[in-house]
Amino acid sequence: MKYRGLGRTGWKVSEISFGAWAIGGAWGDVDDTESIAALHAALDGGVNFFDTADVYGDGRSERLMARLRKERKEKFYVATKAGRRLPQQTVEGYSRKNLTSFIERSLKNLDTDAIDLLQLHCPPMEAYYHPEVFGILDDLVKAGKLRHYGVSVEKVEEALKAIEFPGVQTVQIIFNIFRQRPADLFFAEAQKRKVGILARVPLASGLLSGKITRESKFATDDHRLFNRHGEAFDRGETFAGVDFETGLHAVEELKALVPPKATLAQLALRWILEFPAVTCAIPGAKRPAQVAENIAASDLAPLSAGTMKKIRAIYDGQIKPLVHPYW
Ligand SMILES: NC(=O)c1ccc[n+]([C@@H]2O[C@H](COP(=O)([O-])OP(=O)(O)OC[C@H]3O[C@@H](n4cnc5c(N)ncnc54)[C@H](OP(=O)(O)O)[C@@H]3O)[C@@H](O)[C@H]2O)c1
Repeated sequence: MKYRGLGRTGWKVSEISFGAWAIGGAWGDVDDTESIAALHAALDGGVNFFDTADVYGDGRSERLMARLRKERKEKFYVATKAGRRLPQQTVEGYSRKNLTSFIERSLKNLDTDAIDLLQLHCPPMEAYYHPEVFGILDDLVKAGKLRHYGVSVEKVEEALKAIEFPGVQTVQIIFNIFRQRPADLFFAEAQKRKVGILARVPLASGLLSGKITRESKFATDDHRLFNRHGEAFDRGETFAGVDFETGLHAVEELKALVPPKATLAQLALRWILEFPAVTCAIPGAKRPAQVAENIAASDLAPLSAGTMKKIRAIYDGQIKPLVHPYW
């Protein structure tokens, strides 16, 4: 495992880290015994950064992180998020009272005195025109409740606004072979301000592992069944917002580019690591075997310029028109 500096925090985090949404919920049935085994496998493989949220399984994912902390001695960082417990996404909801109560609840779930990294959980665009929201986070850092804070965003434009606030240490954004727009302008701007970038949904919800087919069946409580058109939350969070059929077609072309002895999931993760502006990819995983496969991407040789060009051509030809106008 290789490590990269996270923004101005002074932390070195694993370039392949761990996304803990699926072990909380909304991805079909999960078993805590298997989830905790996946978390242990991540630590065993050198992962030292985990991304969760207060809403993942209504705290279940955060509580698994607390359990991991008890069962292991190594130092690791946990990033969580706040804002999605609001019944509606309005800037008024991001009040001192609400943020403080969300954070107190996360502290309890995580069984800790201070949150390593708190991210606003895809707040509405208006939040970036209300500096007082970020002032509240500055106060919570001063009070010792948060070590650092950042934001998770849907759109590149939100990311560009977010990094205008000097306290923002990290931006979490969807970045993968099917979502290349963040690399156009945002990465350079984030690098100028030394802001860490967490590349989420790196496998396009599993589509970029190559294992999903037209025949794949998803449980009724799996967002890959119930959110394909944004029925429950931003449709960009499901298969990166790419139409299922188009995605499957592009995946078939990507399979031809997989390096010998590697897998498509590893190619997808290695592709993200080719961008030095990215601090880490945070693939979700439910099982130790997935974790081991994902971690091994850090040891793959860099992709050739030819492979990078072919991936870009697949993206430009099939995917770009579907995603650039939206995110
Ligand atoms: N708004 C936000 O802030 C937000 C939104 C989305 C995600 N996130 C964060 O980003 C993380 C990553 O995104 P994500 O979990 O949505 O999507 P992802 O990482 O693109 O996909 C994860 C899913 O792909 C499958 N998978 C993982 N490794 C695999 C492998 N090696 N081979 C085959 N399949 C594999 C697993 O599902 P199956 O085994 O069930 O197929 C896994 O749950 C989340 O866990 C969360 O921490 C944040």
